Amino acid sequence: MIRRILVWDVPTRVFHWLQVLSFGASYLVAFSERLRNYHLALGYILLGLLVFRLLWGFIGTRYARFSSFLFNPKEVVAYLLMMAKGKPAHYLGHNPAGSVSVWLLLSLGMFVCVTGVMALQDDASDLVVAMHGVSTNAMLGVIVLHLVGVMVSSILHRENLVRAMFTGFKFAESDEGIQRAFGWLGALMVVAVAVFWFAYVRKPLG
Ligand code: HEM
Ligand code: HEM
Repeated sequence: MIRRILVWDVPTRVFHWLQVLSFGASYLVAFSERLRNYHLALGYILLGLLVFRLLWGFIGTRYARFSSFLFNPKEVVAYLLMMAKGKPAHYLGHNPAGSVSVWLLLSLGMFVCVTGVMALQDDASDLVVAMHGVSTNAMLGVIVLHLVGVMVSSILHRENLVRAMFTGFKFAESDEGIQRAFGWLGALMVVAVAVFWFAYVRKPLG
C-alpha cells in the first residue's frame, strides 16, 4: 500500500532552502565593492548553516544522517548503471548518485566560506582570493549537475523530489518514515538567521 511518509525533517529543509538563498544572493553581490558587507553577511549565514548541517548529519533524523547516505564507489556505479537502463532502485533518502553531489556541495560550500574568511585577513595572498573564486565556480558547476540529477531522478522514479524538499513527504510502499519533524528547531534557525542578518547589516564585523 502506498503511504505518505515523512522523510526530510524541518531543519534539513530549512537548511536546504536558506542555503540556496544565501549562496545565490551572496553570489549576486560578490562582484560589487560597495555591497561587500552584504556579501560577507550572506557568506557568514551560509557558513553557519553548513556548520549546523555538519552537526545535524550526526544527531539528526534518519535520512538527514550522514550514515544514511554514505555509499561506496561500487554502489554509486551500480546505481548509475541501473539508471542508464532506466530501472534504478528506489531510495527514500538520498540515492547513491545524488549523495555524491550532496557530499561535493557540502564540502565545496565549506571551502568557499573558509577561503572567504581567509581572503578577509589583511595579509591574505592572491592565491587565497583566487581559490575563493575558483571554488565558487566549481560549486556553480556542481549545482548545475545537482539540478540535472534531481530532474532525471524525479522523472525516472515518477516522483516530485523538489516538492518533497519543501513538504518533507514522499509517497512510497514503506512505513520507514521519520517520527519527529523538529519544527521548533527549523523555526529557531530562521529566527537566528534573521537576527544575525539585521545585526550584521547594522554593525558589520569587518
Ligand atoms: C564567510 C563567507 C565568505 C566570506 C568571508 C567572503 C569574503 C570575500 C571577500 C573578502 C572577497 C573579496 C576578495 C578580494 O578581492 O580581495 C570575496 C570575493 C568573492 N566571493 Fe566571497 N566570501 C564568502 C562567501 C562566499 C560565497 C558563499 C560565495 C559564492 C556564492 C562567494 C563568492 C565570491 C566571489 C565570486 C568573489 C569574487 C569577486 C571578484 O572577483 O571581485 N563568497 N569574498
Ligand atoms: C545554491 C544552490 C543549491 C545547493 C548548494 C544545493 C545543495 C543541496 C544539498 C547539500 C542537498 C542535500 C540536503 C541535505 O541532506 O542536507 C540538496 C538536496 C536537494 N536539493 Fe539542492 N541545492 C541547491 C539548489 C537546489 C534547487 C534550486 C533545487 C530545486 C529546484 C534543489 C533541489 C534539491 C532536492 C530535490 C534535494 C533532495 C534530493 C534527494 O531527494 O535526494 N536544490 N541540495
